Amino acid sequence: MTPSASSSHLTAARDAAVDAARRAGRLIRQHAGTVNQASVREKGIHDLVTVVDEQVQQQIVEDLNAALPEAAILAEEGDEHSQESTDTANRWIVDPIDGTTNFAHGVPPYAVSIALEHDAQIVVGVVYDAARDDLFTAIRGEGAYANGVRMAVSRRNALNDCLLTTGFPYRSFGHIDAYLDVLKAFFQKTRGVRRPGVASVDLAYVAWGRFDAFFETGLSPWDVAAGMLLVEEAGGMVTDYRNDPSPVFARQILASNGLIHPEMLEALRPMQDVTL
Ligand code: IPD
Ligand code: CA
Ligand code: CA
Repeated sequence: MTPSASSSHLTAARDAAVDAARRAGRLIRQHAGTVNQASVREKGIHDLVTVVDEQVQQQIVEDLNAALPEAAILAEEGDEHSQESTDTANRWIVDPIDGTTNFAHGVPPYAVSIALEHDAQIVVGVVYDAARDDLFTAIRGEGAYANGVRMAVSRRNALNDCLLTTGFPYRSFGHIDAYLDVLKAFFQKTRGVRRPGVASVDLAYVAWGRFDAFFETGLSPWDVAAGMLLVEEAGGMVTDYRNDPSPVFARQILASNGLIHPEMLEALRPMQDVTL
């Protein structure tokens, strides 16, 4: 397959990412609930990695290399398995297990996240919730799908009727007071705030119209790249806290149904300069 942005090449790339994600999901499920605590390491404070993350990443990288040999790969657990790439236009962005803390504790969800970036734009996104066997896919310009059915963001336009999702700070606490102030405001203004523990699934659920908005600070490209495209292709909006679009590398993300975006941005104002 020659990587380009043409529709048939993107379909082939999407199919390769789906196959890799489903195969990874089978490996993840084989180990679910049996992770030996001795195989859990801390990469940084509270930042876990298990031997399963590493095995799953190796398998995904092999699968993606077989499908699109020239493309570069940016993957969470280091790039020792990716080949030297000569292709500057195409790059896979991979999180082998998004939600490792959930996985290590045997708590769903946990997911595989695979995106393809072409000329600095995310063009394919696949999120596979391995715990619940839900598959989310999108190709830029062609819509977003949950288990093969087209997704659309919610139509709720009053924060009072909305359910939000977020990621709590767990590695860096320098801005915890600003975060708690924002959370306090959302507790009072919305139906509630959830913290399922998997950014890619949070984004998929905004695309699916389950959650109305998601915000989190300090995320990496592999946490958000695929999920962002799902939200955009489901008719939603994704920006940083200053309303700048395409925040793959911004370490701040607000994804919403679009209707409540201005009010969410206003409430997130105290976090505008926070990226940790
Ligand atoms: C984490 C999850 C979590 C989010 C963290 C991420 P990981 O990914 O997406 O929801 O709050 O910030 O790092 O480390 O389990 O791949
Ligand atoms: Ca992650
Ligand atoms: Ca991960």
